[in-house]
Amino acid sequence: MVVTAVEWLDGKLRILDQSKLPGEQVFVDLDDYGDVVLAIREMRVRGAPAIGVAAADGIALGASNIDTTDKGEFVARLQGVMQNFAASRPTAVNLFQAIDRMKKAIRGDGVAEIRRSLVTEAKQIHQDEIVATEQLSRLGAELIRDNFTLLTHCNAGPLATAGYGTALGVIRAAKEQGKRVSVLATETRPLLQGARLTTWELMQEGIPVTLITDSMAGYFMQQRKIDCVIVGADRIAANGDVANKIGTYTLAVLAKENGIPFYVAAPTSTVDLSLSSGDKIPIEERNPEEVTHVQGVRIAPEGASAANPAFDVTPHRYVSAIITEKGIIREPYTEGLKGMGGRSL
Ligand code: MRU
Repeated sequence: MVVTAVEWLDGKLRILDQSKLPGEQVFVDLDDYGDVVLAIREMRVRGAPAIGVAAADGIALGASNIDTTDKGEFVARLQGVMQNFAASRPTAVNLFQAIDRMKKAIRGDGVAEIRRSLVTEAKQIHQDEIVATEQLSRLGAELIRDNFTLLTHCNAGPLATAGYGTALGVIRAAKEQGKRVSVLATETRPLLQGARLTTWELMQEGIPVTLITDSMAGYFMQQRKIDCVIVGADRIAANGDVANKIGTYTLAVLAKENGIPFYVAAPTSTVDLSLSSGDKIPIEERNPEEVTHVQGVRIAPEGASAANPAFDVTPHRYVSAIITEKGIIREPYTEGLKGMGGRSL
């Protein structure tokens, strides 16, 4: 693993503040669950699986913050903690899967026992993401051939997963299998996860990476410079529609037009079988200032209005395969995803 994005350290949560990368590598220790909610909302921890892991740890932390020995009161206040996490970011389903697992872990006769059960479950959720992302990366690497140039969007590496990575995990595993691979990384406006984080992670891995602006992708596809596109996901509906960082849909359409495979790599904790199709996935709207400003510097005129949907949905017909830890799924996705045991909330 390149870095540990989220780490439970006996009674507190250590996160690497991703908003400061690559300029500064700042680890922050959080001992109040409200600060974990804020860190998710402000994207100091980000990426679907990492959000789920941080929320699980944050709930365990919240349980330790509740100062009562009355079980009824404790559980009622714990529900409030969970609701705060549920309201932090709406699109990544890993968050809701993690909250659901933590709810089921409210077990035990007394408060102390429940607290211990929650810590155990939070650690298990983290461990499950590590194992799943390693496994899917190894499986996905079979799709990558020697000398491939891959295009990726946003950041889907160890930072985003608190594990091995999804899209970047597949690329890392291909390299470990001895394949020569290189990457074109889109900068990913507005928050520049590609420019700031993907380049940083790949450079540390010794994987050649070339940064491009989002609008250059079509040009490089037309020039036959890209062998496949690989991205992560924030939520995959039962029919295989994929919500991922805004701009993913554009890349998928361009890939199809240019006859380039478009792969999605995600653990089954990202699959939401309760939604029949992607149009039901809630799309996060973020502060327009993220668009009118770059890293705090205004680039649009004062008073200019801006829109800022953080994700889009790629219809499954553009997706060549979905790579999960349980196998590589192709059309028809409905059967394949159900067979892989993706969860229903
Ligand atoms: O808004 P972000 O940075 O949390 O969005 C992250 C993404 O869209 C990633 O591609 C996705 O979570 C997959 S992470 C393995």
